[in-house]
Amino acid sequence: MASDSSGGEFVFYDLKPPAPDIRKEICEGLSLEQKAISPKYLYDRRGSLLFETITGLPEYYLTRVEVGILLEHRRDMSHMIERDSWLLEYGAGSGRKSRIVLETINPAAYVPVDISSTHLVESARQIHREFIGLAVYPICADYTKSFEMPAEMPNASRAVFFPGSSIGNFTRDEAEDFLRTVAGVVGANGVMVLGIDTRKSANIIEPAYNDSRCVTAMFNKNILQHLNNEIGSDFQLTHFDHCAFYDEQEGCLQMHLVCNAEHEVSIGNDSFAFREGETIHTENSFKYSPEELKEIANRAGFDCEAIWTDRKEWFMVALLRNSR
Ligand code: AVI
Repeated sequence: MASDSSGGEFVFYDLKPPAPDIRKEICEGLSLEQKAISPKYLYDRRGSLLFETITGLPEYYLTRVEVGILLEHRRDMSHMIERDSWLLEYGAGSGRKSRIVLETINPAAYVPVDISSTHLVESARQIHREFIGLAVYPICADYTKSFEMPAEMPNASRAVFFPGSSIGNFTRDEAEDFLRTVAGVVGANGVMVLGIDTRKSANIIEPAYNDSRCVTAMFNKNILQHLNNEIGSDFQLTHFDHCAFYDEQEGCLQMHLVCNAEHEVSIGNDSFAFREGETIHTENSFKYSPEELKEIANRAGFDCEAIWTDRKEWFMVALLRNSR
């Protein structure tokens, strides 16, 4: 346990989430009819920096619009979340957005939860330095599953903040299961503040994932470099091109890497043949209408108490309350 001049405690809980067998997982994904690599491998150090850059790009409206919504509706939000709640943020802390929500609800403690400890501890320490007197308990855990809360956590109300439309990276069924897990974590009367991208024209969504500076292309291709570094695969990045397209019917933006020359990729003793034009699916980014959001939230055990949006309805921030 540690506490510094800011007064609030700082305790890091490392629940040591089991490390995946990356090589096995990647080989399985590359053996599928539609080759696939999980989007979680987009985020090594370079990938996280590239994503950070993406959030500031003019075409990537999501972050900018979400921050605007949080600022505009913070008063309403503060009235709907109990004083002295514990604020859990899923993800290592989202910079500006975390600070807005912390200032708005003034929680008794801040608990960022992330599967990778490096950035988690760094950003939690920064918050601890800035918010004098705030207790900060970073937890290294896989928030998509149930995990143990710190024993010190009193029976206070809980609020989970999950911004950035990260829920869109789950399939719709996974998103519902995830919301059900969160409903269990916050308990009766607990709340979730959820940032989620809306369904709209492909003309708006596609440029956000095909930016003019090609940062998203570098981000997408970096997944291959990450694997080369991590498991010794020999992906040649020049053999792949970035591709992102929006299926309006499905409400899903898909990101792929398109192979531009027939070749083979080796991972240890395994090798994978690539045809020209064949793709590796690297990410889904599902978009929701307000009705779809209410439906999955209700099925997962939440009431949708508020949906705040911008004037053009490009993004939503929802306040969900566990109704059971
Ligand atoms: C993290 N996630 C919500 C982002 C998204 O928009 O799906 C990741 C991203 N992929 C390409 N650009 C940004």
